[in-house]
Amino acid sequence: MPIKFPFKKDKKQPRTEPLGLEENHIPKHVAIIMDGNGRWAKNRGMPRIAGHKEGMGVVKRIVRYASDVGVKVLTLYAFSTENWKRPKNEVDFLMKLPVDFLSTYLPELIERNVQVRTIGDFDVLPAHTQKAVKEAMEKTKDNDGLILNFALNYGSRFEMVHAVKQIASRVQEGEVDISDIDESMFSQELYTSELIEPDLLIRTSGEQRLSNFLLWQLAYAEFWFTEVYWPDFDESHFEKALYDFQNRKRRFGGV
Ligand code: FPP
Repeated sequence: MPIKFPFKKDKKQPRTEPLGLEENHIPKHVAIIMDGNGRWAKNRGMPRIAGHKEGMGVVKRIVRYASDVGVKVLTLYAFSTENWKRPKNEVDFLMKLPVDFLSTYLPELIERNVQVRTIGDFDVLPAHTQKAVKEAMEKTKDNDGLILNFALNYGSRFEMVHAVKQIASRVQEGEVDISDIDESMFSQELYTSELIEPDLLIRTSGEQRLSNFLLWQLAYAEFWFTEVYWPDFDESHFEKALYDFQNRKRRFGGV
């Protein structure tokens, strides 16, 4: 049955008519590289952090939309292991975003039965970032609706090297035989061990690369790119991505 999604009425309401998504064919796990905040701000003569602030508002809308259409897991690339190279004021701002986001939005996440999780090297994040995110994870841990999974200080190569080290030490301890190492064991050592693999990857801003995001997990995902900068991304773009996904043929290596 096609879904006629009731778009929220606000100033950014999409102008297009709903495309009509098949409700039984919504991708279970959508991963998004939210790119273009800096360019969006620059085009308006604003500082880069203004783009990130606007981008945070888009996160709220997209979480609502994903939860309404029945996506099970939404993984958002909020900060990569490479993003520490940015100017200090920008890094500081990015580290405060989860605090701001959760201070205003956590009640709605709870009401919507959303479960907050993270992937990435969490323990080296600033204390205030950790505190806000931990509180959100604790308060939503029993929710069984949409999993909102923030990739924070995430890098896929770091994650995989860590997994290799874990398995190597188990071999060294004699717990695991080399011949037992397989894809499943490797997957179990990744941050995403409890999650299904992404079906759909979205990247905004016209860039078409993975930037060290979920390299292992995206092996069979469909990719969807748009020129739109993240702060301009809205429900109609997300709907188009889901619609295009529904019209792709996935063969997983078969015929
Ligand atoms: C990439 O754009 C974006 C980021 C590194 C940060 C993304 C963060 C958000 C959208 C807000 C996240 C919100 C929460 C709640 C954590 P860019 O800065 O690389 O843009 P550019 O390529 O145009 O410079």
